[in-house]
Amino acid sequence: MREGPKTDARVLPADGQEWPLVRERLQALRDLDVSPELGRLNIYCHQGTEQLATVRDEAARVFAHSNAFLSKYLDGSRQVESEVRRMVVEILRGGPDAQTFLTTGGTESIFCAIHAAREWSRVERPTPGVPEVILPYSGHAAFDKACHYLGMKIVRVPVRPDYRADVAAMAAAITPNTVAIVGSAPCWPYGTIDPIPDLAKLALEHNLWMHIDACVGGFVNPWLERLGYELPGFDFRVPGVRSMSADLHKHGYAAKPCSTVTFSSRELERYHFVPVDNWPDGEYKTTGFVGSRPMSSVATAWAVLQVLGEQGYLDLTRRCMETKAALVRGIESIADFRCLDNDSTMVYFRSESLDMLTVIGGMADRGYFPFGVFNPVMLQLVAEPVEPAVIDSYLRDLRQVADGVADGTITSTSIARYS
Ligand SMILES: Cc1ncc(COP(=O)(O)O)c(C=O)c1O
Repeated sequence: MREGPKTDARVLPADGQEWPLVRERLQALRDLDVSPELGRLNIYCHQGTEQLATVRDEAARVFAHSNAFLSKYLDGSRQVESEVRRMVVEILRGGPDAQTFLTTGGTESIFCAIHAAREWSRVERPTPGVPEVILPYSGHAAFDKACHYLGMKIVRVPVRPDYRADVAAMAAAITPNTVAIVGSAPCWPYGTIDPIPDLAKLALEHNLWMHIDACVGGFVNPWLERLGYELPGFDFRVPGVRSMSADLHKHGYAAKPCSTVTFSSRELERYHFVPVDNWPDGEYKTTGFVGSRPMSSVATAWAVLQVLGEQGYLDLTRRCMETKAALVRGIESIADFRCLDNDSTMVYFRSESLDMLTVIGGMADRGYFPFGVFNPVMLQLVAEPVEPAVIDSYLRDLRQVADGVADGTITSTSIARYS
């Protein structure tokens, strides 16, 4: 761990300090993070292009002091937000009756969807015991958190050898307490899209709530499909899907925090909202779980959607997939690395002969921040529309690390942990 510049920031200074000095220290602290060049394929992913970075900076500044909590009362903020919501419904193929709400991230979107499923089940599918949510082993950890907070039980079902949901096993896990089924499009640990149409069919047959977690894929799957990639159903065109989580702050290229939860019909809204009016300030109704939230990131989503348009998203997606192809080619030419077949912009690789934890450790020592998967142990990258030089230097470092692990000169092990 590297040491930062010495500040007394743990203690509120007795006297205020000059902003230029404070800014300098803040920037020095930021520089302790992964360098932007080395982080482009992992920690600084979903940035898009330099032009988009400028758009985000400037759009955020326009609404820097606005609270999106108040957007329904303020004409400008309301229009920005409602235009983003309409564009999102269209991108996710939600149809005229679908409703999108803006949230602060995939975790909040998932929480809102699972909360709505629970409320819906109380009316439409009462359970004898604790309501259960069935999801593939590969589903995001946010579902465990949501179920914990909501007093529900999570049932994770092993995935198939190709790392996609095992529909038969999920069917076998249904009990009288089951209220919802989840599929990812794609999941984070493997980049695979679950067989959403089959899961939705199962949900329809058993009168269950079907949620698609498209936090990663919501704003890339539609363009991949248009570019000719074969994907299983992944959006509201699939009958039986009631809700979707989709992150504007991932492949939507908005600034964080900005995500969406979408319901297939206005009728389901009543299971989403938690209106409060028994306190001194009268009616209190928010669009998600949180109260205050930044209008600045919503403004970046609005601006990026306008600046890119369909053509811009198609071009960026094509460039991400070109990066992915170059990475896969290069990685598979080193040692015995093999990449996982998946449906996303993500690259995962492992080795039969080299200890992957040591490979990950070697890359971390070189200043990278390697996302790692534990089961099986793999290194994960997110393909970005980067210059070929970024890919070349990554591959050069990886080759040297692989050689070092093979000849025993690299021994430190590491893995990026989410704790
Ligand atoms: C598939 C998936 N779902 C949900 C999330 C949670 O999103 P957030 O970190 O924005 O809360 C992530 C984050 O990577 C994800 O990949």
